[in-house]
Amino acid sequence: MLSPRMAPKVVPVGPTEGSPHSLAGDAAVDAARQAFAHDLRQALSSRPRSISPKYFYDSAGSALFERICELPEYYPTRTEMAILRARAGEIAALAGPGAEIVEFGAGACIKVRVLLDALDSPVRFLPIDISAEPLAAAAAALRRDYPGLQVQPVAADYTRLLLPAPVPGHGRRLGFFPGSTIGNFSNAEALQFLQRAASVLRGGALLLGADLVKDPAVLHAAYNDAQGVTAAFNRNLLVRANRELGTRFVPTQFDHSAFYNAPMQRIEMHLVSRCAQHVELDGERFEFAQGQTLHTENSCKFTIESLRALAVRAGFTPGPAWTDPQRLFSLHWLEAPH
Ligand code: AVJ
Repeated sequence: MLSPRMAPKVVPVGPTEGSPHSLAGDAAVDAARQAFAHDLRQALSSRPRSISPKYFYDSAGSALFERICELPEYYPTRTEMAILRARAGEIAALAGPGAEIVEFGAGACIKVRVLLDALDSPVRFLPIDISAEPLAAAAAALRRDYPGLQVQPVAADYTRLLLPAPVPGHGRRLGFFPGSTIGNFSNAEALQFLQRAASVLRGGALLLGADLVKDPAVLHAAYNDAQGVTAAFNRNLLVRANRELGTRFVPTQFDHSAFYNAPMQRIEMHLVSRCAQHVELDGERFEFAQGQTLHTENSCKFTIESLRALAVRAGFTPGPAWTDPQRLFSLHWLEAPH
């Protein structure tokens, strides 16, 4: 997951960019489609079958994820927002004046507004997200609402950690990685990501959200919502593959399955074939037996101590860790090495 075979391409999106139909845009779209085709072929050829959750996030998938964040069962977003609001003053004091914020997997850029409102004259915001169009829309809204702020979106896989040089005379660089997206990584990948983050944030800090181990029933409900939005989000991978790669999945012939793997301390999401069927990818045929699964996501859960130990292994010095009264979610201040 950490070494996608995509071309090392950073596509800045912003008002100076050409139309989405420019040659450069088409080339980027083509490279993205090829990477998806390559990874899906790999997934369908291996046993068990599994693919990176980053492919959930086309425009439709990003919109479905924003709907998940509003669901009554999905506690992480609102819990993390409450912690952020309660600690915004402390965070601003730790960050100091003139900070530059870098958000990994920024999506709709909603949470960062709490920081932007609280910080002392932040100079620049660099939101990084794999989904270019929603990111461009979010950046435009931020420019409108924060006229003094430089907003420089980067449409890229955030695990690549390719960043422009800091603004001269700026304050500290503050990495922002909310939502427990770190839970999508394996332990080794999380360590590698944090090591790279420590190096690009040198002398700054990382504000990291991590979902906590808890009653499995609460976890189960959060990934099996009554309205079926999470199921639609999961199946959107197949819808996207059909549109971009012509795979002829029948999404309704795959069940959404999300369960807590207690020994691994993670939610797993799978798509389970309801019957014997086949799909196509570049002229090749792939069979699904009834009950055979495509593993689409891991969402690892942490304890405050396990997260801090991981951060220490990556070279960070943990500062305060904040949680909510129910201890559902945690927010960590991690000082990057100099
Ligand atoms: C964006 C990875 C944090 O794991 O909770 C939500 C994605 N998947 N519902 C999570 C997700 C199903 C989410 N992260």
